[in-house]
Amino acid sequence: MLLDGLSSTSMPALMTRMLEALDIRDGHDVLEIGAGTGYNAALLSHRLGDQHVFAVDIEPTLIRLVRERLAKIGYHPTLVTADGADDLPEHAPYDRVITTCSVSAVPWS
Ligand SMILES: C[S@@+](CC[C@H](N)C(=O)[O-])C[C@H]1O[C@@H](n2cnc3c(N)ncnc32)[C@H](O)[C@@H]1O
Repeated sequence: MLLDGLSSTSMPALMTRMLEALDIRDGHDVLEIGAGTGYNAALLSHRLGDQHVFAVDIEPTLIRLVRERLAKIGYHPTLVTADGADDLPEHAPYDRVITTCSVSAVPWS
């Protein structure tokens, strides 16, 4: 059964390792594919400033919830309901892309 708006975050230690591997630097623009709970987007917003953070999720309910949650703690990254396979071309290019959902093949975009 698919529950509307349900998503889980990854284990925090794994998220930390993924963020470290991303090797972000001041001024980098980062696209996250799979915003989920918004935890990663919050960490990225704290590190880079929310004007440098772009996150998509295929579930519109999640994007709405993440927008509300992050606004409550003062972060306003760009959050878009979209299929990550299509990229987010209107804000490209990105210095880094982090994907937290599975794909059967890496899309061309
Ligand atoms: C493990 S959760 C992401 C956890 C998130 N990074 C966090 O900080 O909480 C995976 C998310 O990927 C989203 N997702 C799955 N396929 C997607 C796709 N093709 N494009 C965008 N988002 C997708 C799901 O809706 C789900 O919210």
